Amino acid sequence: MLPQEHIPVLASSFIDALLTDPDGHYVDTTFGRGGHARMLLARLSDKGSLLALDRDPQAIETANMLAKEDSRFQIIHSDFANLEDAISEAGKTNICGIGFDLGVSSPQLDQAERGFSFQYDGPLDMRMNPDAGQPVSERLKKVSEKDLTHIIRSFGDERFAGRMARAILKAVKSTGINTTRELENICFHAVPPKARHGSTHPATRTFQALRIWVNDEYGQIDTAIKAAIHCLAPLGRLAVISFHSGEDRRIRDLIEAEVNPCTCPREFPMCVCGKAASMRWVQKKPIRASESELEENPRSRSAMLRVAERLPEVAS
Ligand SMILES: C[S@@+](CC[C@H](N)C(=O)[O-])C[C@H]1O[C@@H](n2cnc3c(N)ncnc32)[C@H](O)[C@@H]1O
Repeated sequence: MLPQEHIPVLASSFIDALLTDPDGHYVDTTFGRGGHARMLLARLSDKGSLLALDRDPQAIETANMLAKEDSRFQIIHSDFANLEDAISEAGKTNICGIGFDLGVSSPQLDQAERGFSFQYDGPLDMRMNPDAGQPVSERLKKVSEKDLTHIIRSFGDERFAGRMARAILKAVKSTGINTTRELENICFHAVPPKARHGSTHPATRTFQALRIWVNDEYGQIDTAIKAAIHCLAPLGRLAVISFHSGEDRRIRDLIEAEVNPCTCPREFPMCVCGKAASMRWVQKKPIRASESELEENPRSRSAMLRVAERLPEVAS
């Protein structure tokens, strides 16, 4: 029996932002447990359709059940970096909206054996697709201290990145690190005693950084956002929920590069680079969870939703 519980975050705002035409074709790139997907389907007409992707085989099991119940819904087991191929494999054109609800689902976090969380003791894995790539415990055997410091600093915004990387690799060389509990303990002791009992556990940022690294989350996002923009029909919507500042900055910059692509120096009286905008912001300042949503679902605390739309005509 799989744990199914995942409360979709910013759900009404996300669906309102995406859905401009009930007869339209939509893509949910991060099916998870289908919370957003079901809400979108509830607002589509019989002519509308939803294609969903996920890289996690457990998400695909749930999605396959939904596909049996609803002929407007289709699921493809794929990384969202392969979005363009998935859309053409599904035979979809004229896409009205593409949604991303980034990061991990509650079932992924809450299953000890997936190794995402230091709240539960499990194998140090963290792969969203356990059938691809290598778990964190193996990747750590092959990374240099310099690279690991960079990963922890840039993906986790961890100020003690150097100390973390040194302590982790020392343990990897002596006994190996095989479980989330072992890693949590190493992170706890790697920071100065004064920094061990703050509001955030000392392992939080390092776990986030290793998860982003092992799943190539930023590489996936960079490719997928560009592909999504390319696949949208005129006036089609892009809605993205991110969960930490590094992820949100990346989304903002990727979209902004399409909203204001001109690279001419500011002092030029007119544009000579010829790069034309393909998108405009619908919601540049991120939408955040309301007080009532925060009460119901504490996981929504860090969620940020940005929305943009494809311009009616894009100069080629
Ligand atoms: C926050 S959950 C989505 C929850 C979903 N919106 C719902 O309401 O149930 C994120 C999901 O995206 C998937 N995911 C994350 N990165 C992915 C990627 N690069 N390609 C495909 N799926 C990805 C994860 O496996 C996870 O199931």
